[in-house]
Amino acid sequence: MGSSRLIDMLQEHPGQYISGEEISRRLAISRTAVWKQIEKLREEGYEFESAPRRGYRLIRKPEKLQNVALLYALQGCTTFGQRIKLLETTVSTQEEARSLAESGSPSGTLVLAEEQTGGRGRQGRKWYSPPGKGIWMSLLLRPEQQPLSFAPQLTLLTAVAVCRAIRRVSEVDAGIKWPNDILVGGRKVCGILVESVGEDELIRYCIVGIGMNVNLEGSELPTEVSSIATSLLIEGGQRIDRSVLIGEVVREMEQLYELYRSEGFAPIRILWEALSVTLGQRITVKTTGGDLTGTAMGLDSTGALALLDESGENRIIFSGEVQL
Ligand code: BTN
Repeated sequence: MGSSRLIDMLQEHPGQYISGEEISRRLAISRTAVWKQIEKLREEGYEFESAPRRGYRLIRKPEKLQNVALLYALQGCTTFGQRIKLLETTVSTQEEARSLAESGSPSGTLVLAEEQTGGRGRQGRKWYSPPGKGIWMSLLLRPEQQPLSFAPQLTLLTAVAVCRAIRRVSEVDAGIKWPNDILVGGRKVCGILVESVGEDELIRYCIVGIGMNVNLEGSELPTEVSSIATSLLIEGGQRIDRSVLIGEVVREMEQLYELYRSEGFAPIRILWEALSVTLGQRITVKTTGGDLTGTAMGLDSTGALALLDESGENRIIFSGEVQL
């Protein structure tokens, strides 16, 4: 198709400008059609420099996720990420993972998409998931004989895994806001959505959704979230190889899950508390029963937040939104 011929042409002359006129002649299309193709490619993540009379030159190609690179990055994992479904675009990787779960896919199946058109966040919010810039993934887990209360603990475990993975591959000092937002400098870089399907008080399967803003520039964040969201590129100033980061997240998750299975929630709680940016802070938590203000003291043995409220009473909060 046209735009791939245009890319081929620009790649044949690395670093050099090709005039719009020459492109239009060689591809036998109008100058307007050349401009339209360039704009379309820009939307797909290609970066061009353009100069009057000199034309266009290719600066950067979008970094695409590829199965081989993912398999390489996932070396060492034995169950998580052993099956991968990599999609160019989808409504939501959560829905893809759910239908794979219903059709019998094994625990550890990983769904990844370059782009989501209907990415979902917690509490019915939308999750902006533009092509090629982030990690939009869902991991299917089939825990054995776990009660429904396992899901919140899995959420905390995932936050620890993501936070450790970010710290390992970047210079970025990521921390966890209760229960599961990953923040850098007070702004959100990653969100986690764990959805579970149960039967007879036990979990049939869980889908762990992770959305991470990796290589988005400041100008690429929607204005409505630019004061509360950020990306690893903005914070660390470096582009990150998404496959490597995915490999780290999945490996961390597998190891922490093994730890959880052998020793329960206690070691996960310690790791979570060490990475928390919420503890010791005076916070307000929006809960379904109203707002609660106090000092965040720690997690209880189940993973709920222990808050010392303003009248000196200890409160245990199972779910809510924290305002720091
Ligand atoms: C949050 O609100 O903080 C959670 C955001 C979770 C977004 C991820 S992106 C991959 C997966 N697919 C979705 O539609 N949502 C999750």
